[in-house]
Amino acid sequence: MDKLIAAAQAMRSRSHAPYSNYKVGAAILTDDGDIIGGCNIESSSYGLTCCAERVAIYRAVAEGHSSFQALAVVTENGGSLCGACRQVVWDLCGDIPIFIADQNNNIEETSTRQLLPEAFDQTKLK
Ligand code: THU
Repeated sequence: MDKLIAAAQAMRSRSHAPYSNYKVGAAILTDDGDIIGGCNIESSSYGLTCCAERVAIYRAVAEGHSSFQALAVVTENGGSLCGACRQVVWDLCGDIPIFIADQNNNIEETSTRQLLPEAFDQTKLK
């Protein structure tokens, strides 16, 4: 997991966050063992901003991955995932371990289920 967290940390330097100045890096570990990173990308039309977690996951899906082992997220102060990202992680990754770290490498481990109990998902649509 050190490698995954280091990848998320490195992704923070790619963050495009001129409005909030809150740099977020994320990295997702695929079932094949690949690590794919993402960073937050902000828009002058604020609502179009995309979080680091979603950039990483969407990038991984676009590269052909559909099964995931773990997610790491790094921010300045160890901030947790937003609600929208929790839903996307649940939908595309299921219940996986999630490592949240701050810039000093203080790490907390949680999981999708812990972050989004009683999740809405495709099972309700059948
Ligand atoms: N942000 C993320 O990248 N991930 C989250 O889960 C929380 C928020 C970004 C969005 C925005 O660019 C900045 O952090 C401040 O909200």
